[in-house]
Amino acid sequence: MRVVVGITGASGVVYAISLLKNLDEKKYLIMSETAKKIIMEETKHSISDVQALVDECYENNDLFSPLASGSTRFDAVVIVPCSLSTLSKIAHGIGDNLITRVAAVCMKEKRKLILVPRETPINTIHLENMVKLSQNGAIILPAMPAFYHKPKKIDDMIDFIVGKILDALDIKNDMYKRWREE
Ligand SMILES: Cc1cc2nc3c(=O)[nH]c(=O)nc-3n(C[C@H](O)[C@H](O)[C@H](O)COP(=O)(O)O)c2cc1C
Repeated sequence: MRVVVGITGASGVVYAISLLKNLDEKKYLIMSETAKKIIMEETKHSISDVQALVDECYENNDLFSPLASGSTRFDAVVIVPCSLSTLSKIAHGIGDNLITRVAAVCMKEKRKLILVPRETPINTIHLENMVKLSQNGAIILPAMPAFYHKPKKIDDMIDFIVGKILDALDIKNDMYKRWREE
């Protein structure tokens, strides 16, 4: 499988880093400029550390990249974390950078689009945008960790969300203890 991972400027970039570490597929990475700043702010990773986790990286302003075209075969796009700004652009068909363009291509080609928004509370405009995207086949997978698996550390909460993303990609994983699993 070929998976495009977009990282945008929302809190929770650790989810993306963990996904890249645990995703054993061909990986393409695009980071927004705000995402790069938040990686420096919220984690101990450098941008090059994150880039080293993938097969190919593209700049978000590179609309001439192969990923910008539906003729390039990739199977799924995961935007994690997905800022509500990027989510809103996608909901309105705006493809003004490579992340939003790749999402638009993914939807028009009927491939899998997984968006992991992180914001709270959420206003009605953004809730409506999520409904619109969901109705168009996108999977809205909020960065909303559960507690039924009894997390003991932050990594357990991160693993839960990453496990849910892998589940949505139909990738078998043991990232979290499932309900009633011993
Ligand atoms: C430190 C920081 C944290 C932010 N956290 C969030 C967030 O959790 N969710 C969100 O939707 N936007 C958040 N924003 C706002 C977005 O970064 C902003 O809307 C930006 O334009 C998003 O651009 P991008 O989607 O191209 O990365 C944050 C901004 C900063 C500087």
